[in-house]
Amino acid sequence: MAGKAVELRKAARIAVFSQGRNHLIYSKRKVYILEKVLELISKEVGDAFEAAGFDRELGRVTISNRPDLCEYQCNGAMAGAKKYGKAPFMIADAVAEKLAGNGMFEKVESVKPGFLNITVSGDFARGYIVRMLHEKHMGVNMPGHEPTIILDYGGANVAKPLHVGHLRPAIIGEAVKRILKYAGNKVIGDIHMGDWGLQMGLIITELRHRHPELPYFDPDHTGPFPKEAPFTIQELAEIYPVASSKSKSKEDDPQEVKEAADAYKKEALEATKRMQDGDKAYRAIWHHIMNVSLPDLKKNYDSLDVHFDLWKGESDVHDIIPQMVDYMKQHGYAHESQGALVVDVADEKDSKEIPPCMILKSDGAALYATTDLATIQERMKEYRPDAIYYFTDKRQALHFEQVFRASRITKLVLPETDLRFIGNGTMNGPDGKPFKTRDGGVMHLESLVQEIKDRMYDRVKQSNPDMPEDEARSTAEKIALSALKYGDLSNQPSKDYIFDIEKFTSFEGDTGPYILYTIVRIKSILAKYEAEGKKAKDAKLGNPDSDAMKALMLSLTRFADAVESAARDLAPNRICAYIYELSNAFNSFYHGTRILSEEDEYKKESYIALLTVTLKVLETGIDLLGFSSPDRM
Ligand code: ARG
Repeated sequence: MAGKAVELRKAARIAVFSQGRNHLIYSKRKVYILEKVLELISKEVGDAFEAAGFDRELGRVTISNRPDLCEYQCNGAMAGAKKYGKAPFMIADAVAEKLAGNGMFEKVESVKPGFLNITVSGDFARGYIVRMLHEKHMGVNMPGHEPTIILDYGGANVAKPLHVGHLRPAIIGEAVKRILKYAGNKVIGDIHMGDWGLQMGLIITELRHRHPELPYFDPDHTGPFPKEAPFTIQELAEIYPVASSKSKSKEDDPQEVKEAADAYKKEALEATKRMQDGDKAYRAIWHHIMNVSLPDLKKNYDSLDVHFDLWKGESDVHDIIPQMVDYMKQHGYAHESQGALVVDVADEKDSKEIPPCMILKSDGAALYATTDLATIQERMKEYRPDAIYYFTDKRQALHFEQVFRASRITKLVLPETDLRFIGNGTMNGPDGKPFKTRDGGVMHLESLVQEIKDRMYDRVKQSNPDMPEDEARSTAEKIALSALKYGDLSNQPSKDYIFDIEKFTSFEGDTGPYILYTIVRIKSILAKYEAEGKKAKDAKLGNPDSDAMKALMLSLTRFADAVESAARDLAPNRICAYIYELSNAFNSFYHGTRILSEEDEYKKESYIALLTVTLKVLETGIDLLGFSSPDRM
């Protein structure tokens, strides 16, 4: 009976094979999708287990951890031994026998005590790649429905300069956005600016001290306020740090310094409240701050190739906070505690204490959690997302735990709404402490990016003295971005890492520039080929004729697996690992193969076809990570 089912399944698979639809399955959404290569091989081996009288689940195949012996392996016979009361090698022998003569495999060996060592056929690898190129997104397809996911990343604070702490959430969020989109989700990226807090009050206060004559500070002024901002971006950038330091004092400061700082801070808090409460003059300043800051912020993010669909911020939900608070009170979700309004979020299963989520301070002021909850409410109403993912420093974990719990308790979200916090680790300097400028100050993002760009420019100029200025600049920018982003993304988001400029910008090893170098190498060979008057895209891929070629082809077949695993676990580092492995496989092939000087035209064409696919996969990979390649470097 089992044998018959296997035969029927096989017949069906062969039928689609002969129509050129090999390796395809029919998904629930009634589109053909390419099965991932591991699933495909596992199915074939599962069939053989079943045909030999064993559970087909035992046929799960993994990439070999002994690449010197075989490409894939299956340990199912070991697992099945107990259940079937048989020596594992007897099971493995029986399965290997069933797979003999199967066109998917070059060799299936049963090895004592009971492993199956699997080598796929070159024809299978070629067929898979050809098929993959005909698929939308090269076979990447997350089955199931297409969720709408809101990504909250970037998190810049208006009027405060972007510093290196803002780098990771921006880079990681952008990559995850691109990966999830590619995997078939509807994704909305929102920067969620900090644009409503104390920094605004500090700027207003400092402005008032410097220019008390301005109409914003004249209580008798009723008319409209000037359209022009009373400061430039440079002045604004200078005002904030001054105001911020005036509002702080140190333990050992003299009493009068402390008092002055306290008074200044009190003034700034009052100004913040007045602005939030809708004072016309202070709101006018708020608009000026936004108008002057936003273009600068956009320019900064553009230079990082980070883009948002929404430029919303904390201020956008200000008006809906009172209703939300009423709702929480009316339903008894929120209660008063020492004058403040809180939602209890502790759970008896908690191993550590989770304090209540504060909704309003005792003076009635809203807090960080308040705007986040109101933003959730607004997002649910406006976009009906299935999921909201937040990217910011992992030190905000408790805040998000409280906010997520509060939003469930107060039913701002549906029970099935997927809320996740992807907390990033710190980018450290060579000393292992948070990255600083040489003199120990906070490193501005712009200076860091500029420093890497300048270095790369010198290097590009050195190796290409004749390169036109424009091209040298844009090439340097691309290499710099690859160094910065790859250096970051190749680490797990939650891990701290050391920012090592020498290492990150090296053209060798596990770096962005190495990947770009590989891409540029391929582009240059293809350009030479086309200069001979032929079209690279017309070249036909043949079966592999060397181990290196086969290894490269197998690496290509793993693309969809890599992207899907990155999408599933929100882990851009998987894409880095994959394109690094692919680049290595390509470079081994390149070093061992004459490509353009190959005399056999059939072989040469096949190599060119392979280069074309490799280029496409690598370019897609770096695009998912958020950077792009130059034509030469
Ligand atoms: N502006 C915040 C900060 O710099 C990050 C915002 C993160 N997103 C959020 N919804 N709270 O710390």
